[in-house]
Amino acid sequence: MTGTHDRLRAELTSHAAAWRTQRTTDLFANDATRQLKFTREAAGLVFDYSKNRLDEATLKILLELAEAHGLRQRLTAMFAGEPINRTEQRAVLHIALRARRDHSLTLGGENISLQVEAVKARMRQIVEAVQEGSWLGFDGQRITNVVNLGIGGSHLGPLLACTALREDHQGQVNLHFVSNVDGGDIAQHLAHLVPAQTLFIIASKSFTTPETMLNARTAEQWLRKACPSASLAPHFIAITARPERATAFGVAADQVLPMWDWVGGRFSLWSAIGLPIALAVGMTHFEHLLAGAEEMDHHFHTAEWADNLPVLLAMIGIWNTNFLGAESFAVVPYEERLQHLPAYLQQLEMESNGKRVTLNNEAVASHTAPILWGGLGTNVQHAFFQLLHQGTRLVPVDFILPLHNPHSPPGHHDMLVANCLAQAEALMTGRTATSLEGQAFEDDDIDLPLHRASPGNQPSNLLLFDRLTPHTLGALLALYEHKTFVQGVVWEINSFDQWGVELGKELAQTLLDEIAAGEVGDHHDGSTRAALARYLARR
Ligand code: F6P
Repeated sequence: MTGTHDRLRAELTSHAAAWRTQRTTDLFANDATRQLKFTREAAGLVFDYSKNRLDEATLKILLELAEAHGLRQRLTAMFAGEPINRTEQRAVLHIALRARRDHSLTLGGENISLQVEAVKARMRQIVEAVQEGSWLGFDGQRITNVVNLGIGGSHLGPLLACTALREDHQGQVNLHFVSNVDGGDIAQHLAHLVPAQTLFIIASKSFTTPETMLNARTAEQWLRKACPSASLAPHFIAITARPERATAFGVAADQVLPMWDWVGGRFSLWSAIGLPIALAVGMTHFEHLLAGAEEMDHHFHTAEWADNLPVLLAMIGIWNTNFLGAESFAVVPYEERLQHLPAYLQQLEMESNGKRVTLNNEAVASHTAPILWGGLGTNVQHAFFQLLHQGTRLVPVDFILPLHNPHSPPGHHDMLVANCLAQAEALMTGRTATSLEGQAFEDDDIDLPLHRASPGNQPSNLLLFDRLTPHTLGALLALYEHKTFVQGVVWEINSFDQWGVELGKELAQTLLDEIAAGEVGDHHDGSTRAALARYLARR
């Protein structure tokens, strides 16, 4: 197959040469059906990729490349629960968390669908008890505030979804998120909370992550100060794949909700890690979120590559990164409630595919994950969009836009939509200095047409949906999950481990030991030694 990859890559490379000068606007001008040709729909999402620098021939080779990398077999292996996370010898089955009830999945002879349903039933009990006020704190008061203590995948997904679905909040409890070990994070939340009315969720798959463990201890001490004698049991729930560690911490066994090795942290919001979401919006809305993801799973599993949204999104990303030379891409939602989407996708894509060794233990042949960044439209138009319009780099953009927002006051949504479409159009069309010549500008001394011109031809995707609902959100996130998987398949890397984060964790532990001992180890470089010495002197 390597011969086929090489041939297809060579074809794409020579094909890409023509696209350095080819303008997408000309393609629209010459083909009235271009938008239709390059738009697909699934699970309530409309994906218009017509503003990319590509044509049918490009897509054909890209899809052949995906096929040549064994996408069909790898997808089947993932859905069948094979241990495709090879470096950790684990299955990758986040799809099992949202599978339809009539579709049962087994792993190692065990019916994992039954386990998933049992955890959802326990989540439902907790949600109902908290929402109806029968879950009481140490002095009999009802719980009014829930604090999620978790980081990375145990934080970003629940935070994103709780914010995205804020119009669906049931209102019985306020949700708070503490992730950072910077004490300022937890302190600012605790300052406004009443211990007897506060429930902490310790969310950690490993139950060893130092940031989360320290925040949990700080929360425990804060509660202990308020009630030195009473049981703290009603104030802690744990979600973890290592229940014995949670009970050793002191969480009551029936308040430890399991997750499993076959769910990666960054794919875990569909598991009990999603409890904060369910507490905020109720179990019915949480089920709708799962159903939206399931609809995208089904589409991904069954649709032809040429109609398959995750495959198209992934392969267009590979085209931009590996053949047109984009080093990054921006995700820009025109929906305030999706404000945490870029950060969530940064973990999803960059922790999954920021890799340099293939599954065959060889160095990768091309760049892997591009740098993902972004922010909210319209805000970022007044910040970094200047670089997209007139900077020197190719930066593809994913524009994400709901067609309707029932919560928006009159006039706002029209303006939001106009801005989103205008930016995508301006990035593609640009404008030449010649078209500006002859216009009256205030400063005659400067060649303003040159300064006002934009090259255009920046590629962009447009993802439209009717309005932001739990179902749409589920479909949108599953789309990016599967996109990430497809890209990992083509780059021949393992998208499901994250060994790169280990070194920093180990060095932090060494430094922490030295801080505790008040000594600077001479094994450090001069810069680290000097900074640590300054800290110890100031401490
Ligand atoms: O350090 C990276 C990481 O392992 C992420 O993959 C994960 O989402 C995060 O830390 C938190 O891990 P845990 O849920 O085990 O606390």
